[in-house]
Amino acid sequence: MSSPLAVFGSINMDLVIYSNHKPDEGETIFGNSFETFQGGKGANQAVAVSRLGSDVSFIGKVGNDVFGKQLQESLISESVNVEMLDSHEGESGVAFINVFEDIVENQIIVVSGSNAFVESQQVSKESLNQIDILLSQLEVPPKQIEDLFIRAKGSCFRILNTAPAVKISEELLKNTDLLVMNETELETLSGVTLESRNIDSIISSIKGLSLKNHQSIIITLGSQGVYVCQDQKGELINGHEVHAIDTTGSGDCFIGALASNYLETENLYEAALFGNKAAALSTTKKGASLSMPTQDEVENWFQTF
Ligand code: RIB
Repeated sequence: MSSPLAVFGSINMDLVIYSNHKPDEGETIFGNSFETFQGGKGANQAVAVSRLGSDVSFIGKVGNDVFGKQLQESLISESVNVEMLDSHEGESGVAFINVFEDIVENQIIVVSGSNAFVESQQVSKESLNQIDILLSQLEVPPKQIEDLFIRAKGSCFRILNTAPAVKISEELLKNTDLLVMNETELETLSGVTLESRNIDSIISSIKGLSLKNHQSIIITLGSQGVYVCQDQKGELINGHEVHAIDTTGSGDCFIGALASNYLETENLYEAALFGNKAAALSTTKKGASLSMPTQDEVENWFQTF
């Protein structure tokens, strides 16, 4: 059984060190704190959807180690449907994250572990028939995403968040209805280095992807907002000014909120407006999944705009 919105993706244990500044090469510094959080782009996006009140399934794999148990429990406690979450004989995925508090930046290194074994066949034909929106990212094998997206053609709206920045096949690109990526990922996929990070240069790079008319694309621009391009028309949605403390997972929050809103409204621009607000709010809290806002939090925050 699946929910109408399903995330096919990664789940990691995030091992996070907070420090004031970035150490120089070869330098040792003292950090301020160390915390562990449930993360992984796929799981973060599923938690974002669930906290916003939509029914969501997570399809992935955890290891048979101590992290695997904790990760599964954390998804259950977030009311995410885990019927298609499988266990792998081996280690769970982990992410080593450094958050530099003075510049509010992070660096992330992921070790895939069980995420490298996620398979399209974890989703049965019956479950696929129940899915309206299928969402994925590139922390699980792209070949498996491609297979699932081909199987889902015509019955699901397929969203691909091309993070992290890795090359994907023409087939996967062709079998995606909405692409969501940041500027670095756009450069990787289009093969075009953005000369200056302005909208004109983003538009030329998007053209380099040769998308079909029915395909839409959203470029996330960090604090600058998002650029939404559908039906050959593009619109910029400006970012919100907030007191950000940790941006880890804010892209995931945007995508989860976008997908959850789109499920209801089927209006991509409205969904991007909503996602943009939710993502800004998520940067005001620590952690990835932990920072995802609830519907009430976003609505109350809306009233201040
Ligand atoms: O997008 C943030 C996520 O990237 C972290 O939670 C980490 O696990 C990596 O997947």
